Amino acid sequence: MTQDELKTLVGQAALQYVVPGAILGVGTGSTVNKFIDALAGMKDQIKGAVSSSVASTARLQALGIPVFDSNEVDELAVYVDGADEIDGKGYMIKGGGAALTREKIVASMSRLFVCIADESKRVPVLGAFPLPVEIVPMARRRLQAQFAALGGRATVRMKDGQPLQTDNGQQILDVTGLQITDPLGFETVVSQWPGVVTVGVFAHQKAGVCLLGTPEGILTLKYQ
Ligand code: A5P
Repeated sequence: MTQDELKTLVGQAALQYVVPGAILGVGTGSTVNKFIDALAGMKDQIKGAVSSSVASTARLQALGIPVFDSNEVDELAVYVDGADEIDGKGYMIKGGGAALTREKIVASMSRLFVCIADESKRVPVLGAFPLPVEIVPMARRRLQAQFAALGGRATVRMKDGQPLQTDNGQQILDVTGLQITDPLGFETVVSQWPGVVTVGVFAHQKAGVCLLGTPEGILTLKYQ
C-alpha cells in the first residue's frame, strides 16, 4: 500500500471516534484531509467542527460541514489530527503544516486526542523531524541562539522567497539536531522562552489513541 492509501485508511477508521450529535475538533494536514473527506459521508450526524486552520476550515465548509468558532464551545469530546512524529507514549511532534498553535489550542479543549498517521511517523525518540516552533519574529535571533545552546539548528521556514506567515501572522523556526528524550520537560521549558508562541512538541496535549496505518492493516495504539 502507498503512503497515500495508508492515510486514507486511517482517515476512514477515525470515523469510529466521532460522537453523534456533537461538535468535533478537526486538525490539519494531508492525513486529516482524508478524514474530512470521509466525515462528509456522515455530516448529517454531527453538529459541526472546530477547526485548527484556515485550510481545514475551507475544506470542511466546502463539504457542507458547519465550522464553529472555538470561543463558542466549552469542551470537545474528540480531536482528530495527524502528527509528524509520535513516540511510544503518545508524545508527538506537530506543525509540519505550520498550524501547530491552533492545533494545540483545539487539542487542549478536547478530552481525547485521536492521532491518525501512517507507520512512518512512529519513532522511538522525537527529533529526527525538524521541530516546528511558531515565534514572534522579533525574537528570532535570540531563539536561534537558545536552540543552538541545546545543540539544535533553527532556520526560518520560507515560502515563495519570504518567511512563511502562519494563520496567526507569525513565523516558524524549524529546529534540526535535537533528540527530545524528555518531551514533557522540553515542552515546559521552551514554551516559556520569550517570543515562543507555540513549540511543536505535543506532550501536555499528547495523543490518547493513535490509529497507525501499516501494510498489515490499522494498529490501534492506546496511551495512558
Ligand atoms: C500541521 O501543522 C501538522 O501538525 C500536521 O498534523 C502534521 O504535519 C501531519 O501532517 P500530514 O498528515 O500531512 O503528514
